[in-house]
Parts: sequence; structure tokens; C-alpha cells
Amino acid sequence: MGAMANFRKSIIFSVLFFYSMLLVKTLSSSPPSSNLQILTAERRIDLTSHIVRVYLTLKVENTGEAPAAEVLLAFSPAQFDHLALVKAAAAVGKKKKKTYLPLEVNPSDHPDAPNGTKYYSISLLKPLGKAESITLEILYMLTHSLEPFPAEISQSESQLVYYHDSAVILSPYHIKQQASMVKTPTSKVESFTRVEPTDRSGTELRYGPYEDRHPYSYSPVIIHLENNNAFAVVEELEREIEISHWGSIQVTEHYKLAHAGARHRGIFSRVEYQSRPSISGVSSFKHLLAELPPRVHSVYYRDDIGNISSSRLRTNSKKSELLIEPRYPLFGGWKATFIIGYGVPLQDFLFESDGGSRYLNYTFGCPLSETVVDKLTIKVVLPEGSKNPSAKAPFTVEQSMETKYSYLDVIGRTVVVLEKKNVVPEHNVPFQVYYNFNPMFMLAEPLMLVSAFFLFFIACIAYLHMDLSIRK
Ligand SMILES: *[C@@H]1O[C@H](CO)[C@@H](O)[C@H](O)[C@H]1NC(C)=O
Ligand SMILES: *[C@@H]1O[C@H](CO)[C@@H](O)[C@H](O)[C@H]1NC(C)=O
Ligand SMILES: *[C@@H]1O[C@H](CO)[C@@H](O)[C@H](O)[C@H]1NC(C)=O
Repeated sequence: MGAMANFRKSIIFSVLFFYSMLLVKTLSSSPPSSNLQILTAERRIDLTSHIVRVYLTLKVENTGEAPAAEVLLAFSPAQFDHLALVKAAAAVGKKKKKTYLPLEVNPSDHPDAPNGTKYYSISLLKPLGKAESITLEILYMLTHSLEPFPAEISQSESQLVYYHDSAVILSPYHIKQQASMVKTPTSKVESFTRVEPTDRSGTELRYGPYEDRHPYSYSPVIIHLENNNAFAVVEELEREIEISHWGSIQVTEHYKLAHAGARHRGIFSRVEYQSRPSISGVSSFKHLLAELPPRVHSVYYRDDIGNISSSRLRTNSKKSELLIEPRYPLFGGWKATFIIGYGVPLQDFLFESDGGSRYLNYTFGCPLSETVVDKLTIKVVLPEGSKNPSAKAPFTVEQSMETKYSYLDVIGRTVVVLEKKNVVPEHNVPFQVYYNFNPMFMLAEPLMLVSAFFLFFIACIAYLHMDLSIRK
């Protein structure tokens, strides 16, 4: 009887669940509601690096009856593909005592959006009631969004790039008042689209203020500006973090670095490069700074040819800085592959959690400053005999497992593999890998060595004994 009732209950529940899922699905695919409006919007676009950073301040008001739990950010399909990161926070408190509460931001699907618009949805901490308003601070970052033009330059030329955007902020909501500021690295701006009122002074370009723009207003602009920063892109980076419970963590990083700016045309003249450094090869770069943990040891930097000695290491109590200098300066389109390796003390990064498992707490991302990584792979090699590994990062990463065999391994080591595309310096935040480990396993390898020696010893004795017996 009881079993029958339970069975019926579970059927009813699964039907209910199915219908509620259906409901959620139809709700989420309907076009975004427009009960929200933006009272003021301010956008600052920072083009002073090769990574584009956009800071948005939105004052959002709920003009409808129903409370609103999310606010949508709209992106053109082209920008969406180059987004590396979207962060949002709610500003609370008055001017002097303002604090920011981080909010969750996730990509959000609305298939029938006009012109292929893509969305991110910001989840509010508590729903916005009727006639209430909230101030949101948003940061998003775009990579590979400055297009070199001309695409090829000679050693004595400066690098110019195009930046495409809209003078008005793309949004599914009505915007009452808005303005955008664009910051350029130098005051050399070849040209820019005007959408009146537009104003330029020094390194700042101002679009707006614009009033009462309808949802999905868009007004394309192109800015042609000088940008001689190091367009340092690591096409592929593999970081291996190997944990040994015998006291150290060994990190090995394989880099495939490229200069993603305007391609270098003609031959490279080292004489000209060295004698007139201020005008020759201004968009090239000679060295990069890697930020490593404070207590690093046995640092090396090498490429296919061998050790590169022209690197400098500076350490203090907070961090270590390794200045790495490839064998030749990198011009547009040029590449360099190299390896950096170092050890760090185990107790700085390996801890025990409340549940009794162990965890590694290490920095995600790439240690090179102001660098984009197209494809990052982090491999955490756990000690042999580790169980139940799991990884935790503050953003989505692809996870998988591998097994690695090294010296004296019997069952192999579990490797937790984390992968992420389009990584920017803001991704250099701690991530954790949890695992269980039985300390008895630490004895496995020494025991194996001891027994191997013992067997060898026995074999020797047996051999000697045999030898003697033949001579007799
Ligand atoms: C969609 O794109 C077309 C052509 O680019 C433009 O004329 C139209 O205004 C856009 N529609 C919306 C709703 O943005
Ligand atoms: C390269 O440097 C490392 C660490 O300093 C050293 O152990 C190794 O012997 C060097 N190799 C060569 C080929 O010089
Ligand atoms: C990881 O380390 C950072 C500092 O490096 C610390 O702020 C954070 O609380 C640590 N996380 C965990 C889960 O221990």
C-alpha cells in the first residue's frame, strides 16, 4: 500500500515538475519585459590598452506594477563574441559612505531579440518594487576589439587602430538621459564619427548627452586612433601545478606569445631599433612583467634553444616580479614560445578544509601583465592516491580529468584539468581544487624504494652464494 502511494506521489510530482519546467522555459524565451526604464546612464570606454574596458553606471527604475528581479544588459552580436568578462555591483548608501555589493551576472537567452541582440542578466539581491530605483555599476571587457588599420606598418610607423561601437547605449529599456566618454591613449585621433552633440578635448571624446532614447536605439560610430601599447596575446598557455606532499608545489608554464597588433612590414633593422628607440618600433615590445607568488624559488625561463639569462627577479613580501625578455623584440605578427618554471612552498597554497579534505588555493589566469590569453589550460597534478577531486572557480570553466604517470607511480596521479577561453588580467583570482588524501600513501613510494633495494640485496646475496657454490 505504502509503496503504491509513494509511487503515485512521485508520478504526480514528476508531472508537476515537467509542467513547471515548461512554464519556466516559455517565460524565459519571451522577449524581455520593458517595465524598467533607465533614468541616467553614464558610460566610460577605456581604449588606453589593447583590452577594452567599459564602465557603465545605470540608474534603473521600475515603472511597472510587478517587482523586477533582473536587469538585462544588451550587446550587439559582434561585441558579445569578444566579451571576456561582465561584472556588476549594486551601489548602496549615500555619496561618502557608498559601498558596492557584487551581483550575479549570467548570459541570458532570448531567441526572438531584435537584430540578434545578445543579453547578460544581472540578478538583483532583492526584487525592485514599483517606483523603486537602484544604481548599478557594471564593468565589461572586450578583447581583440581594436582592429589595426593600416593592417601592416613599417618599423618607423606608429600603430593606428579602429574601434567600433554605438554612440548611444544599446539597451532593451528606454533611457531618459545618457552620455559616453571615450578615453584614448594619446591625443592623436585620426578620425571619429560625430553624433551630435560630440566633443573632443585632449585624450577624451564625449558622446552626448542624449535624451529619451527608445529601447534598442543604435547609432554606429568608428573611432580611428593611435595605440602603441603592447598587444600581447598568449594564443595558448598551459600551466601545470604539481603538488607534492613532500614540501613543494612545482609550477611549469608553457607560453605561445604573439604580438597581435599591426603586422610588421619590411625587414627588421636592429641598428635603427637600438639607436632611435623612441621612434623606431614604438608598437613593438621587448619585455613583459610576470607577477609570481612572494616566496618563489628555483625560477627558470627558457625556450627551445636553452636558458634565457636576461630575466630579472625581484621579490618582496607581497609578490615577486620576473622581468622576461625574449631573445628578440616582438613586432606585429611575430611570435615567441617559452617556458617559465618555479617552485613555491606547499604551506602557502595547500590547506585543510573543515570537512577534513585538503585543498589547493591558487591564482587563476596568466601572470603576465596586461595580457590576453586566447586559450588557457590549467592542470593541477594531485599526489598519487588522491580521491574525490573537485574544482571551484568564481566563473565558469570547463573541467575534465586526466591521469599522469611519473617516476615510481603505480596507479598514476589524478590531474584536474581546467580550461577557459578569452582570459584577461581580471581573471587572476583564487580558485580551489579539493581532494581527499590518505597520508599512508605518502609512504608508498619510500616503501617501494626500500623493498626494491631489499630485493636487490637479496638477489646479490643469492648471486654471490651461487657463485661460491660453483667454485667449490
Ligand atoms: C536592425 O538593423 C537594421 C539595419 O541595421 C536597422 O535599420 C534597424 O533599425 C535595427 N532594428 C532595431 C530594432 O534595432
Ligand atoms: C638552466 O637553468 C636552470 C635553473 O637555473 C639550471 O638548473 C639548468 O642547469 C640550466 N640549463 C642550462 C642548459 O644551462
Ligand atoms: C584563497 O586565498 C586568498 C588569498 O590569496 C584568500 O583571500 C581566500 O580566502 C582563500 N580562499 C580559500 C577558500 O581559502
